Amino acid sequence: MSKIEVSTPGKLMLFGEHSVVYGRPCIVTAADQRMRVVVEIEKSSNLQLIAPEVGLSNYLQNIDNLGKSQNIPKGARFVETAVKNFFEKYNIRSGLKIETRSEFSSKFGFGSSSAVTVGVIKALSELFKLELCKQELFDLSYKTVLDVQGVGSGFDLTAAIWGGTIYFKTGGEVIEPIKVLEFPLVVGYTGIKADTPTLIRQVADLHQKNESEVENIFDQIAILTEEAKKALMSGDLKTAGRLMNLNQELLNQLGVSTNKLTVLIEAARGAGAYGAKLSGAGGGDCMISLIQEDNRIEVEEAITKVGGTVLKVETNAEGVNLK
Ligand code: PMV
Repeated sequence: MSKIEVSTPGKLMLFGEHSVVYGRPCIVTAADQRMRVVVEIEKSSNLQLIAPEVGLSNYLQNIDNLGKSQNIPKGARFVETAVKNFFEKYNIRSGLKIETRSEFSSKFGFGSSSAVTVGVIKALSELFKLELCKQELFDLSYKTVLDVQGVGSGFDLTAAIWGGTIYFKTGGEVIEPIKVLEFPLVVGYTGIKADTPTLIRQVADLHQKNESEVENIFDQIAILTEEAKKALMSGDLKTAGRLMNLNQELLNQLGVSTNKLTVLIEAARGAGAYGAKLSGAGGGDCMISLIQEDNRIEVEEAITKVGGTVLKVETNAEGVNLK
């Protein structure tokens, strides 16, 4: 076989963002909006990348120069670095054509970079008949993410690989799929694209200035994340919602929420959601609210009314799979 197509889910952070970077746990769920990656072996000495969503109609890089150029376009960095790392690790050299197509915008903060990284490495491992287990796929994907952006816990990669809902600690120290009962969410997009590494640095600055205070916030987030795990596993939505609100308050104290996020979150709560919080790094992107299914329309309308865009997302989606 010389051509493989895989698809990987996006993700939503449910609890524990930022504190996860400092060794505390988080809970992430896979979102059913998917990234599709087609990888084909070519008789050439190039990596050819077609990724219309990130403005690349025909990006070419010689395979002997992978990762070496100073001006790799943003949209090609994860793919090019993933291919380079895979070739180096398994001593492979081949021309490739890669096409990516996403069901979700890279602006939403649904983890398009991690989804594409996992997709490329999974497809390559199938094409070159290396049966990578999930942990090996995670390790090479995490190396790729760190090579490109220098920071990050890797939580989003686990959603892309394992799917479902996962209790996670940085670097894959703990990757525990958890069985959650139904947890209906309404997702609201602020319309503002956040830059995750910038927000991680912002929190790092605060941590440096006020270490004990920020450590205390992280500890409180860790405690509520443990409680949330139990609440989600037992289907106790009321408690999970209350913990979301608490988590949001602590994220506010870390300075990563914004006015727009607050407006959307308050609208959802005002319309009867059990709880609501930002999801991911903050600074924009999306908020999530935990609802009662028969209250969905009210919450969606409230979010729309204050200027948010409601995104239809099913959680607990399947991890990376072959098409
Ligand atoms: O912005 P997102 O959706 O990639 O989420 C970032 C979550 C952080 O905890 C802030 C960073 C990380 O890598 O865990």
